[in-house]
Amino acid sequence: LVDRTALIAGNWKMNLDHLQAIALVQKLAWSLKDAKHDFGEAEVAVFPPFTDLRSVQTLLAADKLSLVLGAQDVSPHEAGAYTGDVSASMLAKLEVRYVLVGHSERRHGHGESDELVGKKALAAHRAGMVPMICVGETAEDLEQHGAAAIPLAQLTAALAELPADAEFVVAYEPVWAIGSGQAATPEQAEEVARALREALRDLRDDERAAATRILYGGSVASQNVAGFLRQPNVDGALVGGASLKAEEFSRIVQFK
Ligand code: G3P
Repeated sequence: LVDRTALIAGNWKMNLDHLQAIALVQKLAWSLKDAKHDFGEAEVAVFPPFTDLRSVQTLLAADKLSLVLGAQDVSPHEAGAYTGDVSASMLAKLEVRYVLVGHSERRHGHGESDELVGKKALAAHRAGMVPMICVGETAEDLEQHGAAAIPLAQLTAALAELPADAEFVVAYEPVWAIGSGQAATPEQAEEVARALREALRDLRDDERAAATRILYGGSVASQNVAGFLRQPNVDGALVGGASLKAEEFSRIVQFK
């Protein structure tokens, strides 16, 4: 099974035009090359919009850059009459390694159900990619059920669709912390990450629970990333806004 190498993922969401996307990757690659000794073993992934996956992949391949490619969404269907969808095999051919499923902006903005999130995770897995299953509670959920209940239910539902041996990453993103500038505290993130890992023992087994990376996301910045990464059950960060600026994102990547 894979180990828990820290994973820093930059979700660009629906931002940047084509030239800005290329410039960001070039700047990022440049500063990461210089910084290699600092970020050591962390794996760094970028999640451009679909329209820029091809050019980012070309850049990464041409320069043998050590960035990994992720996609922000995937169709649950394999192929056919699904206007607007992008299939898992299309993404896999672009050397996409990670696929976000169940991001709160899809769950809440597009009404995606737990079942659909699970089907998307399965599609990504079948095409040889690793689903990054996003879970998180709203402010209202937090008040009514505490922090962990909704993320646990979302994870349980998604994993019901995936075969027992499938690799996946979990991203815990409290909805109230996304884009708000109000990150969870490292202790809050750890509490939920620990509960999720505990649940993975039952949902899978001890070995998978110990090997699965659980990321924190929600207003991560260079000033707060180290606090999250120091937590025993937090293995990385899913970064939104701060991943759009090369200097800031490379500071985040050098969190140590
Ligand atoms: O997927 C990452 C994201 O939802 C967090 O966004 O802007 O709060 O870092 P942000």
